Amino acid sequence: MPFTIAIDGPAASGKGTLSRAIAEHFGFAHLDTGLLYRAVGRRVLEGVSPIDAALALRAEDLAEDGLRTPAVAQAASKVAVIAEVRAALVDFQRAFARRSGGAVLDGRDIGTVICPEAEVKLFVTASAEVRAERRWRELIAAGHDVALDDVLRDVKTRDARDMGRKDAPLKPAEDAVTLDTSALSIEAALAEARSIVEARLR
Ligand code: DC
Repeated sequence: MPFTIAIDGPAASGKGTLSRAIAEHFGFAHLDTGLLYRAVGRRVLEGVSPIDAALALRAEDLAEDGLRTPAVAQAASKVAVIAEVRAALVDFQRAFARRSGGAVLDGRDIGTVICPEAEVKLFVTASAEVRAERRWRELIAAGHDVALDDVLRDVKTRDARDMGRKDAPLKPAEDAVTLDTSALSIEAALAEARSIVEARLR
């Protein structure tokens, strides 16, 4: 039986960590849908057209190194505005969402567009400052030489683009539960998310 958990939210909100932990806890498959847009963005930085890159995307491309850089994140946010790019990526995400055995998908439009029928919908958010500091720490730990101010500017630019686009903008689904991780530790958010999923599974 399909059982989909849709986890949406802005960059560095903690949705990735939460999604992986939830998938592991319940033994569900996990798809970080941001990787689809990042893989397309990466090809665009190499000179491929966004629509061609989206149409040619293969599952193996999501495992490539180098998808987590700030330049690729911005390129991903730019290609994500293009309706044809989004359309090319829909079927793969929907098939993943409704596979048997349960699936967790995290992204921007999972609960609103990709899987409006998801059994559980969470919207994970935090203030831009908290998110920028988290992302900055991750980048420094991964060996990138970046300034906190630049990361904050990138986060705000990406938020504005992701929330302001016409097609599938970032917003909570009407029936999503919002978890604000600036006020809540990841552990507390995880405990709350787990109890929401357990209640729905019963
Ligand atoms: O989650 P992320 O930071 O890896 O996402 C990178 C970009 O991809 C993000 O800025 C917007 C886009 N994206 C999207 O438009 N829809 C999704 N479901 C996931 C990501």
